[in-house]
Amino acid sequence: MTSKREPIGVIGTGYVGLVTAAGFAELGNDVYCIDIDVAKIDGLKQGVIPIWEPGLAELVEKHRDRLHFSTDLADALEHARLLFVAVGTPPTYSGDADLSAVHSVVASMPASDRHALVMKSTVPVGTGETIKRAFEETGKPGFRYVSCPEFLKEGTAVPDFLEPDRVVVGDDGDWAGDAVVDLYAPLDAPLVRTDIASAEMVKLASNAFLATKISFINEIANVCEETGADVTEVARGMGLDDRIGPKFLQAGIGFGGSCFPKDVSALKQLAGNSGYHFQLLNAVIEVNELQKRRVIGKLHKYLGELPGRRIALLGLAFKPNTDDMREASSLVLSARLQAAGAEVAVYDPVAEDEARDLIHGVRFAADALDCVRDADAVVLVTEWDEFKALDWAQAAEAMAGTLVIDGRNALDPAAVRAAGLVYEGVGRTPG
Ligand SMILES: NC(=O)c1ccc[n+]([C@@H]2O[C@H](COP(=O)([O-])OP(=O)(O)OC[C@H]3O[C@@H](n4cnc5c(N)ncnc54)[C@H](O)[C@@H]3O)[C@@H](O)[C@H]2O)c1
Repeated sequence: MTSKREPIGVIGTGYVGLVTAAGFAELGNDVYCIDIDVAKIDGLKQGVIPIWEPGLAELVEKHRDRLHFSTDLADALEHARLLFVAVGTPPTYSGDADLSAVHSVVASMPASDRHALVMKSTVPVGTGETIKRAFEETGKPGFRYVSCPEFLKEGTAVPDFLEPDRVVVGDDGDWAGDAVVDLYAPLDAPLVRTDIASAEMVKLASNAFLATKISFINEIANVCEETGADVTEVARGMGLDDRIGPKFLQAGIGFGGSCFPKDVSALKQLAGNSGYHFQLLNAVIEVNELQKRRVIGKLHKYLGELPGRRIALLGLAFKPNTDDMREASSLVLSARLQAAGAEVAVYDPVAEDEARDLIHGVRFAADALDCVRDADAVVLVTEWDEFKALDWAQAAEAMAGTLVIDGRNALDPAAVRAAGLVYEGVGRTPG
């Protein structure tokens, strides 16, 4: 890649912003990264990566000369005309997206005919219109706006950036949209160039659909438990149908993370605010909530009352290969178990630091075997590879009881049972 590629700005250096910045640096762009978090920027300047994401530290290190970190927006405005926005849009109490960080970025833009905001943050449909109107009303009519939603997955974010399934660009057909299309051209991904509102909706609808697929297979799993079918066999049989596909058909204890829960809820609220009652999404959310709690029911089934029982939770992050604890099932489970009087031990290979701020009153174990020591039951919450490879004979020796609840259907039931333990998955036939 050569110096012909234009410098860009990235505002917000979290999971999306930092991966986007490093990804474009890999494509040859100089990237001016801005964040309001002084400690984060100080750390990044010294090569400290604030998140755990495979391959990211290496990529940032490789392109240290192209990546410029600052808390001063002027640095990005001076060098770049395209300013990617990757600030958080967490849920409010009502379930709507909290756009305060986005609006604060918009308000800090100067009047300019040379710049464009490129929205990577996930925002409700109509946000682009509102921002364009704000530019008009505040004397900045020349500021351009492009919607470019992000689809990367934590855990595989770097390869997802470099080999995306598609690039979606929503714009008004001006220079800014063309420039964003050019930026992504080397990736050779299918391009969906459309209007701004449709681009915004592609993102929300995609996440809502994937969440629906998960809640659907979880309900099938629950019916399997009642009827003697095995959901892993059912999912295999369904997934071979081209029209269905095998992905997101893994039954378990529900989805979490920084995107699905909030984006499903934001779409439901968006629909409601526009006068449409999105019935399906209500069910998707409710099924997901209940799914986590079914673990408690299973523990009761085998152990009776839970006061004084020792329960080991393997995995805390919302999914493997990330340290992200946002909306992780472990948060609900650890709280529910403690409320029921159980003593809880937890272990995660990378998310412990994040978890310590969020989960209290539990024992943070040093490793998986230490976690299951003296446990009456073990619950697999996050399917890290190291748990799949656990020596169950050793685990059985360390445990006080025999129950293993596989909340992700990720373990080999035969290996668990061979160790003399009782295996209980989600929607799987009892042994
Ligand atoms: N995490 C994902 O997997 C993912 C995937 C696709 C889309 N998204 C969307 O991308 C957006 C960012 O998500 P994330 O997970 O990267 O969030 P994050 O919380 O990891 O990072 C957001 C960053 O923005 C910074 N910030 C906040 N206000 C700012 C401001 N005014 N100026 C400069 N920086 C500011 C924060 O300090 C933080 O570093 C969200 O809208 C999210 O829905 C996330």
